[in-house]
Amino acid sequence: MRRKVIAGNWKMNNDLSGSISLISAIKNGLSEKGTDNLVIIAPPYTSLETACALIKDTEIKLSAQNMHFEESGAFTGEISAGMLKSAGCEYVILGHSERRTIFSETDEIINKKLKKALSSELLPIFCIGETLEERESGKTNSIVERQISSGLDGISESDFNKIIIAYEPVWAIGTGKTATPDQAQEVHKFIRNLIEKIYSKNSAEKCIILYGGSVKPDNSAELLSQNDIDGALVGGACLKSYSFLEIIYSV
Ligand code: PGA
Repeated sequence: MRRKVIAGNWKMNNDLSGSISLISAIKNGLSEKGTDNLVIIAPPYTSLETACALIKDTEIKLSAQNMHFEESGAFTGEISAGMLKSAGCEYVILGHSERRTIFSETDEIINKKLKKALSSELLPIFCIGETLEERESGKTNSIVERQISSGLDGISESDFNKIIIAYEPVWAIGTGKTATPDQAQEVHKFIRNLIEKIYSKNSAEKCIILYGGSVKPDNSAELLSQNDIDGALVGGACLKSYSFLEIIYSV
């Protein structure tokens, strides 16, 4: 039985005081009822250290939203795995579609980042997903297959087992258009079969595959009840504690 995972990707939102308020509200909400789900938050870099202190002694885990694949050096504006570890991160989101499209990250760069995160003992949340044009031209499976096989190139099965995959159709991110539960389930099943081909049935069965793209309290229960959907990577709806908590408690 795979544990459900609800991860909140804050993107470029919340300064320090906004981060403190949001985390306090999430903590309060969770302390009332508790949860068996794994809850992860990914605030901006400037809030990581404070977030780490605030979630100490809670079940909430901390993630960064990106990192560079080098450890240190002349990379102005970048941040390394070691720096994220020292700020208290356990997870890091890699390959988000906004990184791929706005910041021109290729499958090759994402592969290097995944390897660096794993060797630095950060657990990657590895994002993949097709654009609307790709879906409409029937290329969803081939795009997802390319992103997965290039991203995981050279990664051992034991390292792969530490990765969470997030399927986020680009056309559903921040648009209010969600994939239907059937559409999402179909791709999640395809991904799980692909993992079985690349690694093994055991790894495929254990692999956590999140859905992301306009997940909201009113659609999360149905999406997360699908066989191969193990949780959600939530953007917009994680910025309000009540909607993030409602999603957590919808499964
Ligand atoms: P959204 O973002 O929930 O606002 O669509 C999801 C994501 O980008 O991870």
